[in-house]
Amino acid sequence: MTVPPAASLPERPTLRTAEVGAALTAIYSWNYEPEIDQLRTLYANALDRQWIALRELDWEAGIDREALTRTFSMGGLPVAETKFWKGLSFETRWQVSRTSAAFMLSNFLHGEQGALMVAGQLVNAVPHMDGKLYAATQTLDEARHVEVFAAYIQRLGQVFPITPGLQELLDAVIAAPDWKLKAVGMQVVTEGLALYFFRDMRNQTQEPLLKKLLTYVSRDEARHTGYGIKYLGHVVPSVSPKENRELQDFAFECTRNLMASRAANTMRDRVMRMWSDAGVDPNDVLAALAAERDVIGRELARSGGRYGPVSGFIIPTLRALGLYGERTAGLFKQMWTETQGREAADRYASSTAELPEDLEAWVNEGYEAL
Ligand SMILES: [Fe+2]
Ligand SMILES: [Fe+2]
Repeated sequence: MTVPPAASLPERPTLRTAEVGAALTAIYSWNYEPEIDQLRTLYANALDRQWIALRELDWEAGIDREALTRTFSMGGLPVAETKFWKGLSFETRWQVSRTSAAFMLSNFLHGEQGALMVAGQLVNAVPHMDGKLYAATQTLDEARHVEVFAAYIQRLGQVFPITPGLQELLDAVIAAPDWKLKAVGMQVVTEGLALYFFRDMRNQTQEPLLKKLLTYVSRDEARHTGYGIKYLGHVVPSVSPKENRELQDFAFECTRNLMASRAANTMRDRVMRMWSDAGVDPNDVLAALAAERDVIGRELARSGGRYGPVSGFIIPTLRALGLYGERTAGLFKQMWTETQGREAADRYASSTAELPEDLEAWVNEGYEAL
């Protein structure tokens, strides 16, 4: 059964400030006994799996430039596989790879700062002691993520500003008054997508420092997403229909902002400028990629396209939590129809993907020894 698209999507406001009014209600818990066993277990795992960026990663070796250029991709397009790319000088390939990695990782970095602030908020805002203890460990995890992404980007020599879509998302989560909204926006949507992208980038790149860094970070993110799934799984069944609807709306808006942050004109302009700065006419790039579209198409099929992580990860999570009703399904379908066309929208909407049962094992596949 396919769900018809909603009539139209609401307008998205634009915010570009560096300040946002944070909101939450701080809640004491006088019960110090374990109450939600799954969260206590997650807290114990988090304590057990702490790592130290300076000790675990080899910063001395620096970035292997050749390896980074060998797996260059542009918004998921495997450009490094094309004859066009292989025909460019090493200096050009490095310039383009460096700027592109700096752009993407800068937004990961800004996202980590947002996650750090929200994790700190959750210590105050969640009502159970198990949830507070766990959120304290996540706060430290996110501090480490800010540290490692900043350190890697510093070696690329350039930090790009946050994209408007990502900032809107972070502002909305930080300003959300209720902890369940924060958990849906950050733990489920943002960290779910981050986990998916980090893991995918880890699998694709051959740059050793980046590969190891992303493996460590993804292991933490698997726990962060797990927290959202387990905690919300515990409380969502008892919220009112009105609150359930608000949570669903928020999940959709957060997803939409995050996908916009990857797709907006700002990104396309940035990518085009990156090529001209490296001395290559962007029109030549587009023509070359069009000529080698079979190579590109194979890779896109592998990754499920731009919305693969939404239909393959976010929606299965929302469905499992009871936060994916018919109306919300209609909103997602409308978003896909507007951005990808009707055929792609039908394909995404009919996806029956399920979440990996063990997120940590999913991250570790093939990388246990790292
Ligand atoms: Fe993180
Ligand atoms: Fe996280």
